[in-house]
Amino acid sequence: MQNIDWKSLGFKYMNTHCHIRYVWRDGAWDKGELVSEPYLNMHIAAACLHYGQAAFEGLKAFRCKDGKARIFRPQANGERMFKTARRTCMAQVPVELFVDAVKRVVKANEDYLPPFGTGGSMYIRPLLIGSGAQIGVAPADEYTFIVMVMPVGPYYKGGLKPVRAIILDEYDRAAPQGMGDVKVAGNYAASLFAHETAKHAGYPVELYLDAKTHTLVEEFATSNFIGIKPDGTYVTPDSHSVLPSVTNKTLKQIAADLGMKVEVRPIPFEEIATFSEIAACGTAVVVTPVCEITRGSTVLKISGPDACGPVLQKLYETVQGIQYGELPDTHGWCVEV
Ligand code: COI
Repeated sequence: MQNIDWKSLGFKYMNTHCHIRYVWRDGAWDKGELVSEPYLNMHIAAACLHYGQAAFEGLKAFRCKDGKARIFRPQANGERMFKTARRTCMAQVPVELFVDAVKRVVKANEDYLPPFGTGGSMYIRPLLIGSGAQIGVAPADEYTFIVMVMPVGPYYKGGLKPVRAIILDEYDRAAPQGMGDVKVAGNYAASLFAHETAKHAGYPVELYLDAKTHTLVEEFATSNFIGIKPDGTYVTPDSHSVLPSVTNKTLKQIAADLGMKVEVRPIPFEEIATFSEIAACGTAVVVTPVCEITRGSTVLKISGPDACGPVLQKLYETVQGIQYGELPDTHGWCVEV
């Protein structure tokens, strides 16, 4: 066990023993190897550097109550990366290879997995890049697939403490027929300027509306949007340019299991004022309540700044309970290492 102050971990890079690295050449992936040096020796003409052939994923492993290490829904992330690779003309990582890679690297770094009861988890970051040299605009002829891991705590300081969000109408995240529904690195580059602007204005997160009409809610920069109606209905946007979040998919199922009504449909901006609770959800942020949304001179207050609403609290406790092995995993989401 590493000598780390597990309870005060934030969400930042930490070196661990190794990452796992696979290379695709001549139509096939190699067997992958554990590499301790956290650097790549890359060709200066690599397609990922010039033409953005870069995609990533985010998932977590947990030290459960029974002492075992489990990874949460790795197949779902593997399936999403498979789709992202297709959309960006990269070599696809078979889902079985993805899951095996994640298991191998978690196992090799098990002493970096935060102990049960500390609130920490192991963040798993798979990365797929076009590493072959390519100067004409075309897909690379070589790909590198890496999975790195690190222990993390909450993404936003304060865990379940609500955050303020802002809509910046001068910036869009993803075009209607663009790549918002896949996890390409460029989507995050597209959000950085707006993100820094929001942060400097005192808002930890920015919310995006649909790029075409700026009338419909899409998602936060790093996470999906969930709204809870006063009658307990769970509402989340239906849009081609929103990333299909594994956490949102999980929470929709949990909400349905708890007897809540779940609606996936367009959400007009004006509807924000009718929600009793709003959250950002994703692997990194889990369920982060949003207490207020600002757009220009309009400030929509959703909840008090100090407490998470009861429905989001229940969803948060249920998903975390399943992940840490305190509640039954009735859907078979947790994969033992
Ligand atoms: C995740 O939740 O894993 C994400 O990919 C968001 C990330 C950019 C911090």
